[in-house]
Amino acid sequence: MEMLNRYDFPVILLDLGLPPDPDGTTEGFAMLNEVLTINPMSKVIVASGHEARESAITAISNGAYDFYQKPVDADEIGFIVERAFKLYDLEVENKLLQGKQQSTRLPGLVTASQKMEQICSIIERVAPTAVSVLLLGASGTGKELLARSLHELSDRKDQPFVAINCGAIPENLIESELFGFEKGAFTGAVKQVKGKIELAEGGTLFLDEIGDLPLPLQVKLLRFLQERVIERIGGRKEISVDVRVISATHQELESHITDGRFREDLFYRLSEIVVNIPDLKDREGDALLLAHNFLNKFAKEYEKRIKGFDKNASRAIASYDWPGNVRELENKVKRAIIMSDGHKISLNDLEIDYSDDHIETLNLKEIREKNDKEAIVKALSLSNGNISETARLLGISRPTFYGLVKQYNLSIDK
Ligand SMILES: Nc1ncnc2c1ncn2[C@@H]1O[C@H](COP(=O)(O)OP(=O)(O)OP(=O)(O)O)[C@@H](O)[C@H]1O
Ligand SMILES: [Mg+2]
Repeated sequence: MEMLNRYDFPVILLDLGLPPDPDGTTEGFAMLNEVLTINPMSKVIVASGHEARESAITAISNGAYDFYQKPVDADEIGFIVERAFKLYDLEVENKLLQGKQQSTRLPGLVTASQKMEQICSIIERVAPTAVSVLLLGASGTGKELLARSLHELSDRKDQPFVAINCGAIPENLIESELFGFEKGAFTGAVKQVKGKIELAEGGTLFLDEIGDLPLPLQVKLLRFLQERVIERIGGRKEISVDVRVISATHQELESHITDGRFREDLFYRLSEIVVNIPDLKDREGDALLLAHNFLNKFAKEYEKRIKGFDKNASRAIASYDWPGNVRELENKVKRAIIMSDGHKISLNDLEIDYSDDHIETLNLKEIREKNDKEAIVKALSLSNGNISETARLLGISRPTFYGLVKQYNLSIDK
């Protein structure tokens, strides 16, 4: 029972005949109840003597998973145990998905983290208004997804959502992309072309990577934001446009402003509301949740019978840093689905650059041991190997110190 309070055992073999009542079943049933109270997910397999088939049935109606009849047949029990593990894994995974899948009102957005939920509620509240929103976040954190949500949750949703990536278009082309041009405005302008701003009429204009917009264009964009009119290149008339502007960047706009690379007045126009999107690694529990979502999505898309991630893969997903955030996670899971030929995605399939000893353990005993060892090594080196001094630093007696050295198999002469 002590062990049960410390660890979650997926599968337990339980003999009903336990002392002090080895010939009866009272202790066994009491134990079964306690086990299932502590961990209702545990699969308990009950052993019954040949005379006690009835108690086996009672055990199952009390929540045991299965029973086997003594004497033990190794193959049979192996089979039952294996099946129990499988069911346990499925149930755990299912619980994870059901319990955590918070449906936000933002289309396609999956999260269980409080930080993200706060952001979702900001987005929901801001969406129906006309205020300009600046989305700040590292690459792959979901800036475009949030920009689209702002559009979808507004009464502009049936009008166009037009995105332009200011970082991906050569400087000399951005102006015509944004404002359009008249026929004959320059060599090659064989017909009139509308710019993105005009194409977004009535809807939403998403200015992605706004931090990369060259200064001369910042002036022109500012003018549009102030006057709400544009002029096509080579055109003579002003065209008024009604668009809602959302912008995003992974850059530190404040330092761009200090450096004179970004106009402060434009910044204030764009940032009536600023939303700071956290990195994936700072969203409690989201990596695994998202991984399962992507797994389901891509398994379906690529018609693979993949059921989940194995233990190492799950641990790695949960503790990896995800520098490329959700986009990196999505790509890694997609690749794994395509490459895997098993039923579970392994750490290998994921190609996460992550060695086993980096995988964060949540086992308290392991954590304590690791901390103990680190402290001992540190204290030893601080005291130049002097044992009394080491013990004093650690706040323990010399015998306790030697006890730990023995327990952890440390060699102190080094
Ligand atoms: N919370 C989330 N739930 C589900 N999918 C998400 C979530 N966040 C991002 N994604 C998905 O991850 C991918 C990257 O998101 P998105 O393109 O919005 O990020 P971004 O910040 O614009 O990235 P980049 O800086 O690379 O342009 C997209 O496929 C998006 O659908
Ligand atoms: Mg983007």
